[in-house]
Amino acid sequence: MISLEGRVALVTGAAAGIGFGIATILARAGARIAINDIDAAAATAAAERIGGGAFAVPGNVAVEAEARAMIAAVLEAAGCLDILVNNAGVPQPISGLTSFPVDEWQRVLDVNLRGTFVMSQAAAREMIERSQGTIINISSVTGLAAIPGSHAYGVSKAGVAMLTQTLASELAPHNIRVNAVAPGVIAAPMLAKMGVDADRVAHIERRVPMGRLGQPDEIGHAVAFLASDLSSYTTGAVLPVDGGWLSFSGVGSPPARTA
Ligand SMILES: NC(=O)c1ccc[n+]([C@@H]2O[C@H](COP(=O)([O-])OP(=O)(O)OC[C@H]3O[C@@H](n4cnc5c(N)ncnc54)[C@H](O)[C@@H]3O)[C@@H](O)[C@H]2O)c1
Repeated sequence: MISLEGRVALVTGAAAGIGFGIATILARAGARIAINDIDAAAATAAAERIGGGAFAVPGNVAVEAEARAMIAAVLEAAGCLDILVNNAGVPQPISGLTSFPVDEWQRVLDVNLRGTFVMSQAAAREMIERSQGTIINISSVTGLAAIPGSHAYGVSKAGVAMLTQTLASELAPHNIRVNAVAPGVIAAPMLAKMGVDADRVAHIERRVPMGRLGQPDEIGHAVAFLASDLSSYTTGAVLPVDGGWLSFSGVGSPPARTA
């Protein structure tokens, strides 16, 4: 049984979607939750829904001063920070190389990769002092295997996977573990932001060996394991939670159920 009793966890981008699912599962395991989101009102509403002493720490993860302020706010409200989940992320419009708007490159890299870096840096200052802590980053299958037209997003998520391994190596002597989860396609508001409609969902479901999208809670369960002492010898891992997406490299769809 996973227990995070007495731990304090900060989850970024947690007002909706996967982040809210992660925060809910960590709270159920006993952690006190700090909800970050760039949308302050939505962060406050999410903290109220989660309850159990959850509180909001709004801000933009890509801005260093705001990252430092968020960690300071968690320390003031809860006294310590045991778990950081770098979940905040933005999608990009899937577009051909020659028509890709170059300004999008920086916007996506700033939130997804720089945001993960500056939040980890700010949190590690506190964790190193206590020789204790765990960081879980949200990468993506798109960072591990290419999707044509997903330039900035795929590169940002590949960067998150490498940053995970880099920080795991560097912080292990401080008793800080750093791991990542690489979700497949998950039912969250981001899909609508990318213009994924019902037809596209059906197409994706045919591509997934398990035949369905994942749910935010299923990412939350993997994060809870990586945050807990049950994974005490695991660091630098990038765990796909993808219904088999990365395992299948055949042509067309995986075989339908036969029996
Ligand atoms: N949904 C998927 O299929 C999928 C698949 C793989 C990986 N991911 C990753 O999972 C994470 C969560 O995705 P989601 O689908 O729940 O997205 P979402 O768009 O549904 O939610 C993301 C949340 O992050 C917040 N946010 C955006 N920019 C921020 C910033 N600069 N600072 C703080 N908060 C910010 C948004 O306000 C939003 O509440 C992202 O990193 C995403 O790249 C999602």
